[in-house]
Amino acid sequence: MANWTLIDKYAKAWLQEAGTRIVSSFATAPEVMTKSNPDDLVTNIDQETEQFFTKKIREAFPDHYILGEEGFGDDPAGFSGIIWIIDPIDGTTNFVHQQRNFMISIGIYENGNPKLGYVYDVVYQELYYAKAGEGAFWNDKKLPPLEKVPVEKALIGINSTWLVSNRLIDPRETLIPLVNDARGTRSYGSAALEFVFVATGRLDAYITMRLSPWDFAGGKIIVEEVGGKVTNLKGEPLNILERNPIVVAKPGLHEKIIQKYLSKGL
Ligand code: IPD
Ligand code: CA
Ligand code: CA
Repeated sequence: MANWTLIDKYAKAWLQEAGTRIVSSFATAPEVMTKSNPDDLVTNIDQETEQFFTKKIREAFPDHYILGEEGFGDDPAGFSGIIWIIDPIDGTTNFVHQQRNFMISIGIYENGNPKLGYVYDVVYQELYYAKAGEGAFWNDKKLPPLEKVPVEKALIGINSTWLVSNRLIDPRETLIPLVNDARGTRSYGSAALEFVFVATGRLDAYITMRLSPWDFAGGKIIVEEVGGKVTNLKGEPLNILERNPIVVAKPGLHEKIIQKYLSKGL
């Protein structure tokens, strides 16, 4: 039987240590490299942070699996056992350009079931976390359950590029009417931040056409602990080991977004 109290204690200590290292790195310009395209950035700090976690996890919990964005973890074949899904810096473009608005994101699952979720804002030292079945917290303050809100009063996180270019849905039938009806939209450049903004009620929904497991693994556990819904564009559950288009929203609003808007363009 896994000792979840110990895993949680270690995860929080390592997040704090990793955060301190990242903030100290601001003294020197990071080494910026590109991955799949010139806008897909990675830095030596992303890589060093992921290596920091993999080393700690392997020493303390040698039988746990690790799935990390920068490739220092394992190649998990399936859902068996305990897996740490890690994004060492979610919002690397913000890290490079702004030195803020980026998060460390960790989701820990056992046999595919959510257990512990963490999203750490290292600059503001704000930790959002959840223990499945025990609630979600913002710096140890328990977050209340999310309340319903109509589309007309909703503030929705969405990347404006999805309004003009995505291959999944026709924006003219779906996203554009939704943006017109909603109170406003925001775009923060860090999926993990947008998930925890839904969990804290700072956003009412977040819609994105493509996220990888490390982008959503931590935030999903936190949002679901306060009653938020996290699905694909059809309202189906996510596969946590694959890329997914995602709708995250307050209860009620989530169903409305799917039925009244997104289903028209699928
Ligand atoms: C990215 C951010 C961004 C989202 C991208 C992600 P990264 O993560 O979460 O908000 O729109 O899809 O890849 O590359 O900065 O870790
Ligand atoms: Ca990411
Ligand atoms: Ca990243």
